[in-house]
Amino acid sequence: VVKVAILGFGFMGRTHLEAYRSLPSVEVVNIGDPNAGSRLQDVPNSAGIYSDLERLVRETKADVIDVCLPTFLHEKYVLLAAQRGLHVLCEKPLALTVAEADRMLEATNKAGTTFMVAQVLRFFSHYTKVKELVTSGEIGQPIFAAAARLSEPPQWAKWFQDPAKGGGALFDLQIHDLDYLLNLFGLPNSLMTSGVRSGSGCWDQVMNVLSYADKQIAIESSYRMPIGWPFTSTLRITGTTGAIEYRFRVQGNVDQAARAQHELVLYRNGKPTERFDFDDPDPYVREIQYFIECVENRTEPSLVRPRDCRNAIAVLESSLQSLVTGSPVSLAHLQQEMPATATQGSSANASH
Ligand SMILES: NC(=O)c1ccc[n+]([C@@H]2O[C@H](COP(=O)([O-])OP(=O)(O)OC[C@H]3O[C@@H](n4cnc5c(N)ncnc54)[C@H](O)[C@@H]3O)[C@@H](O)[C@H]2O)c1
Repeated sequence: VVKVAILGFGFMGRTHLEAYRSLPSVEVVNIGDPNAGSRLQDVPNSAGIYSDLERLVRETKADVIDVCLPTFLHEKYVLLAAQRGLHVLCEKPLALTVAEADRMLEATNKAGTTFMVAQVLRFFSHYTKVKELVTSGEIGQPIFAAAARLSEPPQWAKWFQDPAKGGGALFDLQIHDLDYLLNLFGLPNSLMTSGVRSGSGCWDQVMNVLSYADKQIAIESSYRMPIGWPFTSTLRITGTTGAIEYRFRVQGNVDQAARAQHELVLYRNGKPTERFDFDDPDPYVREIQYFIECVENRTEPSLVRPRDCRNAIAVLESSLQSLVTGSPVSLAHLQQEMPATATQGSSANASH
């Protein structure tokens, strides 16, 4: 049995708990949250509840620390868990700066334990299928991709509105599409980002254009949609002989994702249009199950490599620079660390 301690019992902490509960080989032994209050009522009796998170990490008998805390707290608790030699799952985005991300990678490397970032898109059947169709040449050579993630501001917590705690839509939303597209296409040569800041200083409405030698990618991310806007994410990839479009829409915010409508369509010159439907098992369950398998088998979480998650944060840091200066930013320095084609051959399709 793998014993897990969850830090942060808000939206994601509860989502992860449900996923762990569906796995017979996992026991959630601790939950840490200074102000979870009545949300803890339906927690399993055996789980030791802590309001002091540092104490929890010092005392826990868990094998795994699962960090579901607001983003600005990720580094602190990943480092504490690594110092104790525990396996770590950390919610996205990994961090708000490359410096933080590097310290997290160094600490977890040194600990020699399993470390994974919860980039859940890698475990969606639809996104996995899109990757499969693109890499198998179904649309020819990709020339353009457009992704969007448009949401009302999260109503369940205030920290999302603080640029130093959540990083705004640039970090909190764009990381999903960016991480996915970097995994598919590798690192771009340069980027140009435009956007609008919210009253609290968050870059909450942004458009990022990533330039490659042979293609362009545009990613729009917004927490500036009015209350009542149905959470929407879209992905369109155009190739020399076809195009793929995926649409995800749900009435309410992303916490209602289980009721979402999905549409995935493949268009090809001279061939019939194809639609793909999945009886999609909850992607959060697939993500958690994969992580636990990596812990049990002592294998690298190769579907979500920490190094790639770190590079996505580096791209976002460059986007922030572009937003502030109004100028394009070269990513040549990152290219040297991870060649643009590095992920093309990797098997990032979640196969279970
Ligand atoms: N993968 C996804 O689809 C997804 C969706 C939403 C959020 N997230 C990520 O998960 C993480 C947690 O987000 P969430 O929506 O669960 O947030 P949340 O506010 O609902 O939960 C965070 C919990 O941490 C606790 N906490 C402990 N110390 C705190 C402090 N100093 N300040 C504020 N809260 C503190 C809060 O009490 C709260 O229960 C974030 O990194 C976020 O980006 C991921």
